[in-house]
Amino acid sequence: MNQIKIEGRHALHGTIQISGAKNSAVALVPASLLADELVTIDNVPNISDIAALDEILTYLGADVTRDGSIMKIDPSKIECKEIPESISTKLRASYYFMSAMLGKFHHVEMYFPGGCAIGARPIDQTLKAFRSLGATVIEDGNKYIVDAEKLIGAPIYLDMPSVGATINAILVAVKAEGVTTIENAAKEPEIVSVATFLNNMGAKIRGAGTSTITINGVNKLHGCFTEVIPDRIEAGTYIIAGALLGDHLRIQNLIPDHVDSLILKLKEMGYPMEIGDDYIEISAIDSPKAVSVKTLGYPGFPTDLQQPLTVLLTQCKGTSKLEETIYENRFGHVPYLNRMGADILIKDRSIFVTGGTKLIGKEVDATDLRAGAAMILAGLASQGTTTINSIEHVLRGYENILEKLTDAGAKVELIEI
Ligand code: EPU
Repeated sequence: MNQIKIEGRHALHGTIQISGAKNSAVALVPASLLADELVTIDNVPNISDIAALDEILTYLGADVTRDGSIMKIDPSKIECKEIPESISTKLRASYYFMSAMLGKFHHVEMYFPGGCAIGARPIDQTLKAFRSLGATVIEDGNKYIVDAEKLIGAPIYLDMPSVGATINAILVAVKAEGVTTIENAAKEPEIVSVATFLNNMGAKIRGAGTSTITINGVNKLHGCFTEVIPDRIEAGTYIIAGALLGDHLRIQNLIPDHVDSLILKLKEMGYPMEIGDDYIEISAIDSPKAVSVKTLGYPGFPTDLQQPLTVLLTQCKGTSKLEETIYENRFGHVPYLNRMGADILIKDRSIFVTGGTKLIGKEVDATDLRAGAAMILAGLASQGTTTINSIEHVLRGYENILEKLTDAGAKVELIEI
């Protein structure tokens, strides 16, 4: 178990380059197995979640090569094998293999996926989509055996706009006979990038990015090239770092529209920002104003930035309210922030952050990926030294985070123990 040690209160300046999006790449990589030929994906982040997906692809028989940010996947020799529990529980995105394998082989045997412990995270909507398209699902404890003699296009209504269920429904429907419509679909940029990737392979998907997606099934999908979109959550995390400690910190290679909800909140707090075609420049200000925030599906405020934002709210004047509507247990960062001197009260699914408190470095835990990002931000903003345990959670999702922060002027180091 490694630690990150941070000496706080150093200004951040220069430029931080944003990597390819974790939550887009983790869907594109499993989706590649639907092709019958070589696919090439560029701008793939070097994070441990991608390494885990590479392991699953290789286990299934794909030929995978990685050269920097380019990943080449030849899925032509993939076999229909059970994916063992030891690898499917390594990450949430392993369940994209469930749908890609079902689409390709009409059969899959797999286990409940892993992922951060931020709520129950059931997969009922994915299973509902499978059943709607004609599959039978046998649930045996944690194991799922999904089988379909034929996959037939059908209407699918999602009870909530789930990112994972929307992508899973698309991955099966592209190979089903006839027309599928997904109603109440999630609208995140990750959905659009998966649909674009599959359309590049010859799929017929319309409406991705809206709440109704229509898919005309096809028999074959050919090889293609795609590029992972910039990571809006990584970008948002560094923008918040800039709001805390920036001295003209530039966050480059992002799509400003994808972080609009964060930009609007920062404007409400009083931050001036320079916003270019692919960058945002931000500096810390005195006494930003308290705000009210509610997490929602895209284009609403992303749950994945709720924990990083909490750190900035501790520095705002007044009491901010932050309501988490997506996950029932995503406040693992709060006790640690309070230990560092913050004044945060948890009430049901909301937190109330009374700002203007001085943060003091302490030993803390990264309870999950974005809680870990919040701990890093808190460490950067604190007086003294912060030591963060369980940092493997952070390395799952942030490429070269220590190098990026060090280059921007932070004093951070990895301690191997
Ligand atoms: N839900 C159900 N049933 C389902 C599916 C979802 O009840 O069948 C509920 C979930 O329990 C949750 C809500 O619906 O309360 C939304 O879940 P969703 O399916 O949208 O999330 P996900 O696909 O499991 C992805 C990201 C998460 C991100 C969410 C929301 C990946 C691998 N994960 O999860 O990313 O928070 O969408 O945007 O893409 C992270 O990066 O830190 C992270 C957790």
